[in-house]
Amino acid sequence: MKDLLIVANWKSNKTTNEARDWLNEFKISDINLDNKKIILCPPFTLLGFLKKEIAMKGLPVKLGAQNISEFESGPYTGEVNAVQIREFSEYVIIGHSERRKNFGDNENIISKKAHNAIGYNLLPIFCVSNVSMNIPKGVDIVAYEPLFAIGTGNSDTPENANEVAKKIKENNNEVKYVLYGGSVTPGNVSSFTRMKNISGVLVGGESLDALSFLQIVQNA
Ligand code: PGA
Repeated sequence: MKDLLIVANWKSNKTTNEARDWLNEFKISDINLDNKKIILCPPFTLLGFLKKEIAMKGLPVKLGAQNISEFESGPYTGEVNAVQIREFSEYVIIGHSERRKNFGDNENIISKKAHNAIGYNLLPIFCVSNVSMNIPKGVDIVAYEPLFAIGTGNSDTPENANEVAKKIKENNNEVKYVLYGGSVTPGNVSSFTRMKNISGVLVGGESLDALSFLQIVQNA
Protein backbone atom coordinates (compact mmCIF):
# COMPACT_ATOMS: atom_id res chain seq x y z
CA MET A 1 0.00 0.00 0.00
CA LYS A 2 1.45 3.40 -0.92
CA ASP A 3 1.86 6.20 1.64
CA LEU A 4 -0.72 8.97 1.47
CA LEU A 5 -0.26 12.51 2.73
CA ILE A 6 -3.51 14.31 3.50
CA VAL A 7 -2.76 18.01 3.94
CA ALA A 8 -5.16 20.65 5.28
CA ASN A 9 -4.42 24.22 4.20
CA TRP A 10 -6.50 26.55 6.35
CA LYS A 11 -5.18 29.63 4.49
CA SER A 12 -6.07 32.90 6.30
CA ASN A 13 -8.84 31.42 8.43
CA LYS A 14 -9.61 30.62 12.08
CA THR A 15 -9.10 32.13 15.51
CA THR A 16 -7.93 30.15 18.54
CA ASN A 17 -11.50 29.44 19.61
CA GLU A 18 -12.40 28.23 16.13
CA ALA A 19 -9.32 25.99 16.05
CA ARG A 20 -10.31 24.53 19.44
CA ASP A 21 -13.81 23.76 18.15
CA TRP A 22 -12.35 22.14 15.04
CA LEU A 23 -10.09 19.88 17.12
CA ASN A 24 -12.99 18.86 19.33
CA GLU A 25 -14.95 17.78 16.28
CA PHE A 26 -12.00 16.08 14.62
CA LYS A 27 -12.48 12.58 16.07
CA ILE A 28 -9.56 11.05 14.26
CA SER A 29 -9.15 8.13 16.66
CA ASP A 30 -12.32 6.62 15.13
CA ILE A 31 -10.56 6.27 11.78
CA ASN A 32 -8.07 3.62 10.70
CA LEU A 33 -5.13 5.58 9.36
CA ASP A 34 -3.11 2.65 7.93
CA ASN A 35 -0.80 4.33 5.46
CA LYS A 36 -2.22 7.86 5.89
CA LYS A 37 -0.35 10.82 7.34
CA ILE A 38 -2.28 13.96 8.29
CA ILE A 39 -0.60 17.35 8.04
CA LEU A 40 -2.41 20.44 9.28
CA CYS A 41 -1.24 23.83 8.00
CA PRO A 42 -2.89 26.62 10.02
CA PRO A 43 -1.91 30.30 10.09
CA PHE A 44 1.27 31.08 12.08
CA THR A 45 -0.80 32.47 14.95
CA LEU A 46 -2.23 29.02 15.68
CA LEU A 47 0.89 26.86 15.43
CA GLY A 48 1.84 27.15 19.12
CA PHE A 49 -1.66 26.48 20.34
CA LEU A 50 -2.16 23.52 18.02
CA LYS A 51 1.22 22.02 18.83
CA LYS A 52 0.29 21.93 22.53
CA GLU A 53 -3.20 20.58 21.92
CA ILE A 54 -2.01 17.86 19.54
CA ALA A 55 0.62 16.73 22.06
CA MET A 56 -1.83 16.82 24.97
CA LYS A 57 -4.46 14.83 23.09
CA GLY A 58 -1.89 12.54 21.46
CA LEU A 59 -3.35 13.15 18.00
CA PRO A 60 -1.74 11.59 14.91
CA VAL A 61 -1.42 14.97 13.22
CA LYS A 62 1.73 16.77 12.02
CA LEU A 63 1.92 20.52 11.63
CA GLY A 64 3.01 22.63 8.69
CA ALA A 65 3.35 26.37 8.12
CA GLN A 66 1.84 28.04 5.05
CA ASN A 67 4.78 30.28 4.28
CA ILE A 68 8.39 30.98 5.29
CA SER A 69 10.65 34.00 5.08
CA GLU A 70 13.17 34.08 2.28
CA PHE A 71 15.57 35.56 4.93
CA GLU A 72 17.12 34.20 8.08
CA SER A 73 16.56 35.96 11.42
CA GLY A 74 17.18 39.72 11.46
CA PRO A 75 15.61 43.06 10.65
CA TYR A 76 12.73 41.80 8.48
CA THR A 77 9.57 43.18 10.04
CA GLY A 78 6.61 40.87 9.76
CA GLU A 79 8.55 37.86 8.52
CA VAL A 80 8.68 34.41 10.15
CA ASN A 81 11.89 32.51 9.44
CA ALA A 82 12.85 28.85 9.18
CA VAL A 83 14.27 28.50 12.70
CA GLN A 84 11.10 29.94 14.18
CA ILE A 85 8.89 27.67 12.12
CA ARG A 86 10.97 24.64 13.03
CA GLU A 87 10.00 25.14 16.68
CA PHE A 88 6.44 24.16 15.79
CA SER A 89 6.33 22.39 12.43
CA GLU A 90 7.93 19.73 10.33
CA TYR A 91 6.46 20.94 7.05
CA VAL A 92 6.00 24.20 5.16
CA ILE A 93 3.96 25.02 2.07
CA ILE A 94 6.06 26.90 -0.47
CA GLY A 95 5.07 28.42 -3.80
CA HIS A 96 1.29 28.29 -3.38
CA SER A 97 -0.33 30.06 -6.33
CA GLU A 98 -2.07 32.52 -3.99
CA ARG A 99 1.35 33.68 -2.81
CA ARG A 100 2.76 33.76 -6.33
CA LYS A 101 -0.21 35.89 -7.44
CA ASN A 102 -0.82 38.20 -4.45
CA PHE A 103 2.52 38.53 -2.67
CA GLY A 104 5.14 38.62 -5.40
CA ASP A 105 6.58 35.19 -4.64
CA ASN A 106 8.60 34.73 -7.83
CA GLU A 107 10.98 31.94 -8.82
CA ASN A 108 13.93 33.60 -7.16
CA ILE A 109 12.15 34.19 -3.85
CA ILE A 110 10.57 30.75 -3.88
CA SER A 111 13.90 29.05 -4.42
CA LYS A 112 15.40 30.99 -1.47
CA LYS A 113 12.45 29.91 0.67
CA ALA A 114 12.93 26.28 -0.31
CA HIS A 115 16.65 26.55 0.38
CA ASN A 116 16.02 27.98 3.88
CA ALA A 117 13.40 25.37 4.67
CA ILE A 118 15.61 22.46 3.65
CA GLY A 119 18.61 24.00 5.43
CA TYR A 120 16.68 23.83 8.70
CA ASN A 121 15.21 20.37 8.13
CA LEU A 122 11.74 21.54 7.25
CA LEU A 123 10.02 19.53 4.55
CA PRO A 124 8.66 21.78 1.78
CA ILE A 125 5.30 20.96 0.27
CA PHE A 126 6.13 22.65 -2.98
CA CYS A 127 3.17 23.82 -5.08
CA VAL A 128 3.11 24.01 -8.88
CA SER A 129 0.21 24.72 -11.18
CA ASN A 130 1.58 22.91 -14.22
CA VAL A 131 4.14 20.35 -15.22
CA SER A 132 6.76 22.76 -16.54
CA MET A 133 7.31 24.82 -13.38
CA ASN A 134 10.70 24.73 -11.78
CA ILE A 135 11.11 22.56 -8.68
CA PRO A 136 14.12 23.39 -6.46
CA LYS A 137 16.71 20.77 -5.53
CA GLY A 138 16.02 18.82 -2.37
CA VAL A 139 12.23 19.02 -2.65
CA ASP A 140 10.57 15.64 -2.36
CA ILE A 141 6.90 16.58 -1.86
CA VAL A 142 5.17 18.45 -4.66
CA ALA A 143 1.52 19.50 -4.85
CA TYR A 144 0.04 19.84 -8.32
CA GLU A 145 -2.69 22.47 -8.08
CA PRO A 146 -4.09 23.71 -11.41
CA LEU A 147 -5.27 27.33 -11.16
CA PHE A 148 -8.73 26.62 -12.54
CA ALA A 149 -9.38 24.12 -9.76
CA ILE A 150 -8.45 26.14 -6.67
CA GLY A 151 -11.51 27.16 -4.69
CA THR A 152 -13.79 26.78 -7.71
CA GLY A 153 -15.51 23.44 -7.16
CA ASN A 154 -14.14 22.45 -10.54
CA SER A 155 -11.40 19.87 -9.93
CA ASP A 156 -9.03 18.46 -12.54
CA THR A 157 -9.77 14.98 -13.83
CA PRO A 158 -7.98 12.22 -11.90
CA GLU A 159 -6.54 10.95 -15.20
CA ASN A 160 -4.97 14.27 -16.09
CA ALA A 161 -3.72 14.84 -12.54
CA ASN A 162 -2.13 11.38 -12.67
CA GLU A 163 -0.42 12.17 -16.00
CA VAL A 164 0.94 15.46 -14.62
CA ALA A 165 2.14 13.71 -11.45
CA LYS A 166 3.90 11.08 -13.54
CA LYS A 167 5.69 13.72 -15.63
CA ILE A 168 6.68 15.73 -12.57
CA LYS A 169 8.35 12.61 -11.16
CA GLU A 170 10.01 11.79 -14.48
CA ASN A 171 11.41 15.32 -14.76
CA ASN A 172 12.51 15.62 -11.13
CA ASN A 173 14.05 12.45 -9.83
CA GLU A 174 14.21 13.67 -6.23
CA VAL A 175 10.42 14.06 -6.05
CA LYS A 176 8.89 11.11 -4.18
CA TYR A 177 5.35 12.31 -3.53
CA VAL A 178 3.05 14.25 -5.82
CA LEU A 179 -0.17 15.41 -4.21
CA TYR A 180 -3.22 16.72 -6.01
CA GLY A 181 -4.90 19.95 -4.85
CA GLY A 182 -7.88 21.94 -6.10
CA SER A 183 -11.50 21.43 -5.03
CA VAL A 184 -10.87 18.14 -3.27
CA THR A 185 -14.01 16.93 -1.47
CA PRO A 186 -15.09 13.85 0.49
CA GLY A 187 -16.84 12.76 -2.71
CA ASN A 188 -13.92 13.00 -5.14
CA VAL A 189 -10.85 12.36 -2.98
CA SER A 190 -10.58 8.63 -3.65
CA SER A 191 -10.71 9.16 -7.42
CA PHE A 192 -7.39 11.00 -7.01
CA THR A 193 -5.72 8.92 -4.31
CA ARG A 194 -6.31 5.67 -6.17
CA MET A 195 -4.29 6.95 -9.12
CA LYS A 196 -0.88 5.31 -9.36
CA ASN A 197 1.21 8.47 -9.33
CA ILE A 198 -0.77 10.50 -6.79
CA SER A 199 0.36 10.21 -3.17
CA GLY A 200 -2.22 12.34 -1.42
CA VAL A 201 -4.14 15.59 -1.49
CA LEU A 202 -3.83 19.24 -0.46
CA VAL A 203 -7.21 20.43 0.76
CA GLY A 204 -8.26 24.07 1.16
CA GLY A 205 -11.95 24.93 1.61
CA GLU A 206 -13.11 21.48 2.69
CA SER A 207 -10.50 21.30 5.44
CA LEU A 208 -12.08 24.20 7.34
CA ASP A 209 -14.90 21.96 8.45
CA ALA A 210 -13.59 19.20 10.74
CA LEU A 211 -16.25 16.70 9.69
CA SER A 212 -15.63 17.21 5.97
CA PHE A 213 -11.91 16.85 6.51
CA LEU A 214 -12.43 13.68 8.56
CA GLN A 215 -14.48 12.28 5.70
CA ILE A 216 -11.71 13.15 3.29
CA VAL A 217 -9.17 11.32 5.47
CA GLN A 218 -11.50 8.35 5.72
CA ASN A 219 -12.31 8.19 2.01
CA ALA A 220 -8.76 8.81 0.75
P1 PGA B 1 -9.32 24.32 -2.43
O1 PGA B 1 -7.85 24.91 -2.23
O2 PGA B 1 -9.33 22.94 -1.84
O3 PGA B 1 -10.20 25.28 -1.65
O4 PGA B 1 -9.62 24.32 -3.88
C1 PGA B 1 -6.72 24.10 -2.40
C2 PGA B 1 -5.49 24.94 -2.18
O5 PGA B 1 -5.44 26.10 -2.60
O6 PGA B 1 -4.50 24.45 -1.57
